[in-house]
Amino acid sequence: MDKELEKQYYYIAKAREIVKEKSEALGRPLTAGIVTMGCQMNARDSEKLNGILTAVGYEVTGKEDADLVVYNTCTVRENANNKVYGHLGYLQNYKKHNPEMKIAMCGCMMQEPAVVEKIRESYRFVDLIFGTHNLYKFAELLVQMLESDQMVIDVWEEAGSVVESLPTKRKYSFKTGVNIMFGCNNFCSYCIVPYVRGRERSREPQEILSEIKAYAEDGVCEVMLLGQNVNSYGKTLENPVSFANLLQQVTEIDGIERIRFMTSHPKDLSDELIGVMAGSDKICRHLHLPLQSGSTRILKDMNRRYTKESYLALVDRIRNAMPDIALTTDIIVGYPGETEEDFMETMDVVRRVEYDSAFTFIYSKRTGTPAAKRTDQVPKEEVDRHFAMLLSEVQEAGARRAKRLEGSIGKVLVEQINRQDAGLVTGRLENNSVVHFPGGSDLIGQIVPVYLKECKGFYYIGEMR
Ligand code: 5AD
Ligand code: SF4
Repeated sequence: MDKELEKQYYYIAKAREIVKEKSEALGRPLTAGIVTMGCQMNARDSEKLNGILTAVGYEVTGKEDADLVVYNTCTVRENANNKVYGHLGYLQNYKKHNPEMKIAMCGCMMQEPAVVEKIRESYRFVDLIFGTHNLYKFAELLVQMLESDQMVIDVWEEAGSVVESLPTKRKYSFKTGVNIMFGCNNFCSYCIVPYVRGRERSREPQEILSEIKAYAEDGVCEVMLLGQNVNSYGKTLENPVSFANLLQQVTEIDGIERIRFMTSHPKDLSDELIGVMAGSDKICRHLHLPLQSGSTRILKDMNRRYTKESYLALVDRIRNAMPDIALTTDIIVGYPGETEEDFMETMDVVRRVEYDSAFTFIYSKRTGTPAAKRTDQVPKEEVDRHFAMLLSEVQEAGARRAKRLEGSIGKVLVEQINRQDAGLVTGRLENNSVVHFPGGSDLIGQIVPVYLKECKGFYYIGEMR
């Protein structure tokens, strides 16, 4: 076994002893809650945290009044950071009522030295801070935290080795995310991700494929391949492999019936990938293709390395190969220097593409990124006006697209009993839309045909066929 892995298993055993002692003294199990913010990568990282917490004997409840609360943070926009400081205020109260309580912080926000400094100075009741590059050391850090009265801080500037095969606990038994790569080399001018997640590192295809095979044997039928930019997967490996090739190999795994991936950068989405997608009915007919802006001038400034025209041409190639595909996107409004004309170019692309859904963001200045140095920030009133226009356009398009499926039969992966009505189950179509229909818990984890009786805007009411 890998030396580092062996070491972490040693700490898992050690933490388990400490947790057992503490819970015997308290006469009850120790509880833990994980609060996850941000993207699919963080959701996956939280499954790893959960795996280790469960292995060391915590009862993972998901609540914020637990004996240990772990904040897995996001820093992509300023309001994500503000939310964390808001939550820390609450936690201080909980801590007053429960002297056993420990607070741990991890995720992208912790990779920013200014954040760690602020917590160290103003939130002294936090017990543990670690970063994105040393998450695999969680058991070791837990032991340090449980044995110390001081704030434990361990954040690495650079990524070390990828430690495989630590315990994970999936949120759903039947679907999971799988990291295929970490980090990002694109340095879009507004984005902090390359600074907090480090340089691009791909996992070996054999590691990925054997992980997915093991999941398939354990009842997983849907996987989401995760990377900041999956289209550049494998380029830096000793034996380079394309993402399309990896995807093809994943389709050949028995038991895996649905494959998704996130995120695709439009600059290097290959025709090979479009071909593999079109050739396999296991790969979901859904592509998330962040536009960010429809103005070639702004795209150039953002360092996105595509133009309005090349993006639209790509959409055409994708739709020609897969006419029924759902397209979703991310768009930023109010990038420094964005004019009325630039914004109208974005609206034009949105109208032409007709996205199934779009995440729209107001530009947020991230210290340390090239765009943060710009002095031509767009006035707030203008940003708000544009944002409202864009939102109503994407919502209308989304509703029109959703309506088109009304009256058809779709395949639904059933996820859970409906939260409001126990006579219904809730699941997702291939395009990720939510469907509610009459059924029981025996359907959970199964893919079943459902007649989409009524479209309610962004979800459907159906009937099993
Ligand atoms: N301001 C606003 N939105 C941003 N995103 C990334 N950085 C910023 C920023 N500084 C958005 C992009 C990206 C998504 C994950 O978050 O649209 O695709
Ligand atoms: Fe950020 Fe651009 Fe990398 Fe996406 S591709 S994580 S937007 S730098």
